[in-house]
Amino acid sequence: MMDWTDRHCRSFMRLATRRAVLYTEMLHARAVVHGKREQLLGFASGQSPLVLQLGGSVADELAQAAKIGADFGYDEINLNVGCPSSRVQSGNFGAALMLEPDLTARLVDAMRTAVSIPVSVKCRIGVDEQDAEKDFNHFIDLVAQAGCEHFIVHARKAWLSGLSPKDNREVPPLDYDRVYRLKQRRPDLQISINGGIETLDQCAQHGKLVDGMMLGRAAYHNPFILASVDHQIYGEKDAGLTRAQMVEAMLPYIECELANGVRLPSITRHMLGLYQNEPGARHWRRHLSVEACLPGAGVNVVLDAMALVEGIREEAACRVS
Ligand SMILES: Cc1cc2nc3c(=O)[nH]c(=O)nc-3n(C[C@H](O)[C@H](O)[C@H](O)COP(=O)(O)O)c2cc1C
Repeated sequence: MMDWTDRHCRSFMRLATRRAVLYTEMLHARAVVHGKREQLLGFASGQSPLVLQLGGSVADELAQAAKIGADFGYDEINLNVGCPSSRVQSGNFGAALMLEPDLTARLVDAMRTAVSIPVSVKCRIGVDEQDAEKDFNHFIDLVAQAGCEHFIVHARKAWLSGLSPKDNREVPPLDYDRVYRLKQRRPDLQISINGGIETLDQCAQHGKLVDGMMLGRAAYHNPFILASVDHQIYGEKDAGLTRAQMVEAMLPYIECELANGVRLPSITRHMLGLYQNEPGARHWRRHLSVEACLPGAGVNVVLDAMALVEGIREEAACRVS
């Protein structure tokens, strides 16, 4: 998610789950080819399984960017065919590509030819007045024929004009059944479902009908939800880290990044949701938001915020028992 799932965010999320697949923000293929690669693509070790999401509509650029991504160590390349922002539309990529299945198939083919890792597509069930049955089936079949075996489907249409990107994540109705029908029609493809999923129980329900579930906002706003994924979804035995253990495990990473000149809020902004719905969550957020911005702020800010919130939680637990 753009501006959200950067490398700091992913380092934090990876502490919660070893198994869930993490995705980068969408990067434009041209930026990857011509921009500062290390800055755009670099990531700390241990983030795998990790997917690089690319945007673009020029086959050569996407192929080159995919190759660069593969060389950086990403496990899969994903093409964005779901983003409806006006910037994306004027560049004729993102969700606008749903109107051009032939072109999308050529892009996937070019990327696949350039790399040996899988190339997947994240799309919607349609855009504007497209028919969510006939047109969607046609799109999937052509792109699958080009070698895409994994589709992540945001289960709502995108309206290319008249709705903001935010509204396009909320206003068009969710149609999970449409994604289930796709899986029934094409059992040979790996189909993941996305859009409006908020709990792991909901994930488990979807998991009976499709191959994978993608969480966006719920995981970002409440990252601790990921701490149960390995156990609940992947059937791992161990329970995973506690919130405090996640914070402690994050400290060496933070220290290392600060030493490289990164500012503390660039990292801690992704940690604000850790205590979501817990006693003391507001104190945690406020302490981190305010103190991390002060000159010279270091890991002590994080430790102090943790001591504060854990103290409040302990008191609340004592009151209950
Ligand atoms: C701030 C923000 C940035 C996003 N950026 C991307 C992106 O770069 N690529 C993408 O495929 N989807 C992006 N999305 C859409 C999400 O991946 C997801 O499809 C959408 O939010 C619906 O899923 P959810 O209800 O689980 O959040 C973004 C969403 C948000 C809120």
